[in-house]
Amino acid sequence: MKYSEHFDKLCAALDGPGAFLVVEDKIGRVNVMTIGWAQIGVVWGQPIMTVLVRPSRHTHDLLSKASHFTVCVPRPGGMQKELAYCGTRSGKEYDKARVCGFTLKEGYGHKVKYIDGCELVYQCELYGTTDLAVETAAQPAVSRYYPGGGDIHTVYFGKIVKAEKF
Ligand SMILES: Cc1cc2nc3c(=O)[nH]c(=O)nc-3n(C[C@H](O)[C@H](O)[C@H](O)COP(=O)(O)O)c2cc1C
Repeated sequence: MKYSEHFDKLCAALDGPGAFLVVEDKIGRVNVMTIGWAQIGVVWGQPIMTVLVRPSRHTHDLLSKASHFTVCVPRPGGMQKELAYCGTRSGKEYDKARVCGFTLKEGYGHKVKYIDGCELVYQCELYGTTDLAVETAAQPAVSRYYPGGGDIHTVYFGKIVKAEKF
């Protein structure tokens, strides 16, 4: 599909139970984290998926060394337990893909994996990163999301190399 198709489904997931962010380490171990913050659009003339990850997440460590990631969106109402689990446990302590019983499929150029059974899958090549300039954010957002002033999201830009609906 074109990356911009089914945008409403992506937004419904992000606004609701979440979607999965899947990243692999250098020796092929996969970590799955639930996300609620992401964007699709055009940057540098490329179709880009942006994800925002706090430095405290294991996923943050993995993304700093990764070349690719995927965003996988379950069908509406699907994989609720898995979304809750992957959004409350850390890959530092748990093999979440194994506990959830996910079947992982090989993606683009064998560089990326995605979760079988999801409705939408965006395979992304890491294309840039920046730290959120929290001092420029609106005060209500700062008070709500960074009350202690730390753990400020890093923004990762992924070029969407393949977008699929299953
Ligand atoms: C619905 C939902 C949405 C979430 N969205 C994000 C997000 O966009 N960015 C983020 O850094 N953490 C987010 N989290 C928290 C992480 O999923 C959670 O801290 C997770 O345990 C981190 O896993 P990791 O340490 O294996 O990376 C979300 C959690 C839930 C339940």
